[in-house]
Amino acid sequence: MAVIRLMTINHYDAVIQLMQATPGVSIRDADSRESTTRYLERNPGLSFVAEEGGGLVGCVMCGHDGRRGYLQHLVVLPEYRRRGIASALVERCLGRLEQLGILKTHIDVFRSNTKAQAYWERQGWKRRTDIQKYSYVCNGSINA
Ligand SMILES: CC(C)(COP(=O)(O)OP(=O)(O)OC[C@H]1O[C@@H](n2cnc3c(N)ncnc32)[C@H](O)[C@@H]1OP(=O)(O)O)[C@@H](O)C(=O)NCCC(=O)NCCS
Repeated sequence: MAVIRLMTINHYDAVIQLMQATPGVSIRDADSRESTTRYLERNPGLSFVAEEGGGLVGCVMCGHDGRRGYLQHLVVLPEYRRRGIASALVERCLGRLEQLGILKTHIDVFRSNTKAQAYWERQGWKRRTDIQKYSYVCNGSINA
């Protein structure tokens, strides 16, 4: 049975390893140790890992901007999937956000990641067709 714990920066290496091994999840400059430290400090008590057998088997990162919640990097090791671990991780995030008064949460999913889309839709998340997302990168960084 997986145990859900708060993510700290001590989980960083294991989380990056999990993400690197997972197709459909992209790692950016924004996932550096420094940026992740900043993210966890800005969003205390909102990101979680799942541990089983002494190892990390899942993770999710979560933050908010005061109005809306944002989920990122929900990943479960393939051999631990379909056991409710992702749902338990997301439930913790949404519960904490609700305690903070944040009732609506967003997640970005690559158009190519159809399995993740199926997951979110099965969980009742609504795919947005009314919004086009725009991003701007400072300093010409190619992997921001
Ligand atoms: C998406 C992911 C996190 C789901 O993890 P999980 O621990 O297997 O999910 P859960 O066991 O909590 O799933 C709960 C329910 O979600 C639905 N679900 C889970 N995976 C699904 C899939 N691939 N397709 C459709 N529905 C799915 C099912 O209804 C499932 O319940 P069931 O097993 O009783 O049918 C996992 O498949 C994963 O790590 N994928 C690769 C990384 C990724 O793409 N992450 C999302 C980035 S946006």
